[in-house]
Amino acid sequence: MSQQLIKKKLCQFLIKAVVYKELNNKEVFMLQESVIKLLNEQINKEIYSAYLYLDMANYYADEGLDGFEHWFKLQADEEMEHAMKFRQYLLDNGLKIVLSAIADPSASYKHFSEPLKAALEHERYVTASIHAIYEEALNKKDFRTMEFLNWFIEEQLEEETNAEDNIRKAEIAGDKGLFMLNREFGKREED
Ligand SMILES: [Fe+2]
Ligand SMILES: [Fe+2]
Repeated sequence: MSQQLIKKKLCQFLIKAVVYKELNNKEVFMLQESVIKLLNEQINKEIYSAYLYLDMANYYADEGLDGFEHWFKLQADEEMEHAMKFRQYLLDNGLKIVLSAIADPSASYKHFSEPLKAALEHERYVTASIHAIYEEALNKKDFRTMEFLNWFIEEQLEEETNAEDNIRKAEIAGDKGLFMLNREFGKREED
């Protein structure tokens, strides 16, 4: 290596060192490990939600309740979209995505109202999970993740409201109104 080349390399190295130091002084924002872990886990929870709602759609298909089946199939699709939002957020931040095994969602339901109640319970669990990520982001002064999660906080209110409405409608309809209610559920449109 010529002396000139050595000088050039040394110069490049020093410039790089100065740039890094300056970046450090400016405290470049990075997501913290604890927040990244929770965001990755949320991908699993959203895909599990999709799995759970697909299992419910399958139950209704077996029962011949195609309207309920349609409603829960759309719900499953929505949950996959939620999972993809978390995935994209991690990617946008240059982070590694870690996928883990999805639990078996199968349940045996004895009455058409049972999945509706289970869905509300599940949405309450997801709300708590989203709030826990928000709390951790707040603790770490991770304003970017807090802003990202705002959409999900609003979405969870809507999810819980829908689940509560479904239970109320089923109670009003009773077994006698099941045919009508099935038809109404079948009218759900994609968001
Ligand atoms: Fe979700
Ligand atoms: Fe949901």
